[in-house]
Amino acid sequence: MPEQVWWGDPGAEGATEVRASGAAGWLRLDAFDSECFGVPMAKLEAAAGPRLVAPDLFRACVREASERGWRHLAARVPSEQAELVRALESAGFYWADATVIFGRRLQDTTGPGDVPIGIALPEDLPILQALGRGAFRQSRYFVDPYLDPAGKERLTDRWVENALNGRADRVFVAEPKQPVGFAACKLDRRGRVATIDLIAVSEDSRGRGIGRSLVEAVCRHYEPIAEHLEVGTQLANTGAVRLYEAAGCRLLRSYMTLHWASPELKAGR
Ligand SMILES: CC(C)(COP(=O)(O)OP(=O)(O)OC[C@H]1O[C@@H](n2cnc3c(N)ncnc32)[C@H](O)[C@@H]1OP(=O)(O)O)[C@@H](O)C(=O)NCCC(=O)NCCS
Repeated sequence: MPEQVWWGDPGAEGATEVRASGAAGWLRLDAFDSECFGVPMAKLEAAAGPRLVAPDLFRACVREASERGWRHLAARVPSEQAELVRALESAGFYWADATVIFGRRLQDTTGPGDVPIGIALPEDLPILQALGRGAFRQSRYFVDPYLDPAGKERLTDRWVENALNGRADRVFVAEPKQPVGFAACKLDRRGRVATIDLIAVSEDSRGRGIGRSLVEAVCRHYEPIAEHLEVGTQLANTGAVRLYEAAGCRLLRSYMTLHWASPELKAGR
């Protein structure tokens, strides 16, 4: 295996290995994305080797994806590795998103605030899906002009549904009888890091401290269980960044996400 890891977990089980000029990349078909958009979509989940040959490797990955009939690729690169972003662009990838990960230690949580917070019930699903549909418009899927708008809605709906069906460790709702906001959280396997996977407040209830109350409720719940809270958003999402800053979070790391779309997908096929 090439020595220098650029990102990800090289050689993870089940990934398709692509080699070029002494470097290697690992592609993996993404069942969830493929199902939501109705076309085969994959991730370039890891890459390693001498950096000088990155353009060769990424071109080889695109060839491999094309041969397999995969229509869309996503690569998430640590943002300090600008040369890899340029290499991806030279292979036909385009910029989709800058992701910022914020976090804080789970201690000295303030609150409880004035907003009633409860746990989501199965019957809240339609209302939470409606909240989600009006919310995640800055995600890398939404800003990608080549992805089907109906697929973007489906992805949001399924994501919320999966959260309620057990992908999330816990889903908090603001105003439990008639939810106006929610936060879906996960806990890592070692029980150390709690992550807010999704958070949204209905458009007409924003700016009233509901997001802040949800984050505080999350922190209060996980403080006895986990050590850290982490949450990711888009650099362009000023509202979310301000919310996390207001809740005592600091920037931990950031990534650039680039996409590649096949000529068929670009032509709407
Ligand atoms: C991000 C979001 C959850 C914030 O919820 P909210 O209820 O409006 O947030 P709050 O009213 O509790 O505000 C919390 C802090 O963030 C700040 N803030 C919230 N939205 C802001 C905006 N658009 N611009 C600037 N600051 C903003 C508030 O001023 C407040 O800071 P303060 O306590 O220092 O005054 C809400 O805007 C939303 O649902 N957005 C769409 C979904 C989304 O982007 N989710 C995150 C995806 S990763």
